[in-house]
Amino acid sequence: MRIDVISLFPDFIAQCAVFGVTGRAVERGLLSLHGWNPRDHAQGNYRRVDDRPFGGGPGMVMLIDPLRSALNAARAADPRPVRTIYLSPQGAPLTQAKVHELAGRERLLLLCGRYEGIDERLIAAEVDEELSIGDYVLSGGELAAAVVVDAVARLQEGALNDAESAVQDSFEDGFLDCPHYTRPVSHELGSVPDVLMSGNHGDIARWRRQQSLVRTMRRRPDLFDESALSKADRKLLEQ
Ligand code: ADE
Repeated sequence: MRIDVISLFPDFIAQCAVFGVTGRAVERGLLSLHGWNPRDHAQGNYRRVDDRPFGGGPGMVMLIDPLRSALNAARAADPRPVRTIYLSPQGAPLTQAKVHELAGRERLLLLCGRYEGIDERLIAAEVDEELSIGDYVLSGGELAAAVVVDAVARLQEGALNDAESAVQDSFEDGFLDCPHYTRPVSHELGSVPDVLMSGNHGDIARWRRQQSLVRTMRRRPDLFDESALSKADRKLLEQ
């Protein structure tokens, strides 16, 4: 998969390709990351990329033309169809289901804004989808783009080692993940739950499912979908 990112700070995005699971996905040829700086597509001595907002008010708005030229250059760099996504707090919330959909595409083009935003005409004409990583305001789309890159990279076939399998992640089945423990069994901060030491795989699976359901109910009642519960789940919740 190929991801292109339009950003005034393309070095920030390049760092994604250096560390951890994303770095490994790049190393294994499962993902390629390309940054494009709209300043390289701006005109004049000052290479302006922004201007004051019509109607007044604080901040600056990113100009149409440098962004459009950078978008077109990125699109032309590879013949495969590409989905253009603008990261902004006005976007639809990014979910694990959305991440799966994006991870299945051959190409993504992520557009990062700075300042007060981007001229709305560019968004209307060039953007397929607007996504937000949460109900808070970042000073630019770069961190949000890095979130998308990471979440999508780890779902590429072969990016995770067996031990890191994504199947049991939080949200994969609609519920939060269960707690995890490792050595030592006994520690001044507490002991590992007996069931995990029992060797009984059925009991362990049931305990994990129960923990996962109870956590979701308590911490994220907004996610807790009663209708997704099986008969066995209901029994676990009664215990
Ligand atoms: N840019 C600024 N804030 C953002 C957010 N919450 N999500 C995505 N992009 C953003």
